[in-house]
Amino acid sequence: MTQPRPYRIIQISDTHIAANPERALLGVTLRTSFNAVVELVRQHELNQMDLILLTGDISHDGSETSYLYAANTLKSFNVPVYAILGNHDDALTMASVYPCHTMRTDKQIILGPWQIILLNSHVPGQVHGLLNEQELEYMEHCLQQYPDKQAIIVFHHHPLPVGSQWLDKLGLINARAFWRIISNYANVHTVLFAHVHMAFQHHVQQIPCYSPPSTCIQFKRGVVHFALDHVPPGYRWINLHPNGQLETDIRRTEHYIGVFDRDAKGY
Ligand SMILES: [Fe+2]
Repeated sequence: MTQPRPYRIIQISDTHIAANPERALLGVTLRTSFNAVVELVRQHELNQMDLILLTGDISHDGSETSYLYAANTLKSFNVPVYAILGNHDDALTMASVYPCHTMRTDKQIILGPWQIILLNSHVPGQVHGLLNEQELEYMEHCLQQYPDKQAIIVFHHHPLPVGSQWLDKLGLINARAFWRIISNYANVHTVLFAHVHMAFQHHVQQIPCYSPPSTCIQFKRGVVHFALDHVPPGYRWINLHPNGQLETDIRRTEHYIGVFDRDAKGY
């Protein structure tokens, strides 16, 4: 008997698309690097993925053009793309453009025995993140609504240190409150985040937490001050199996897209 196939989720993040097609960040032309990752997804995931999670910093400049560019590029996959806000995003502009084409702004996705809960950790004008009372209440509402489904919780900012001092000051500032609530629920399976521009995994309260590479520049782990990592961009794939198991890994383009800036001091 053949096993039922898992749900396949593709996480694309920190695309930082700008209105100017030539806009570059520390030697990486944003659209060129994004397009390379999109082609990688096309090569490996076409006709087998169920949905895309676009986990914030979709735009670098908050422009309508950048949100439209992401929507127009990703619509060719013909799967729903769930977008959440990152610190660089403009909440009003993004809300004026999405939903459109295949872009969705739903905050809850049900997939058989799984539910995905998408939260907003964006704080206007700040780099750090926060899950406000409304978001935390919504999360609890979803967890109580489906006690028997395994929950994947998704938001932009990191709810645990990733080991780079400068970046760990800019994560989810109320991570403690978040984890305190999570400790009351046995149905939280995994936390997915972004913002850190690096593939990372670790456990908190035995709950696995994962982030993907950015589609543009990658941040270095284990440093005090900002530094870039010389690794190619990529995406994370996640398989949600019907038996409640999750497997995940990342895939990167063959080469670094652009010119590596080893002396970059910030962005
Ligand atoms: Fe970012």
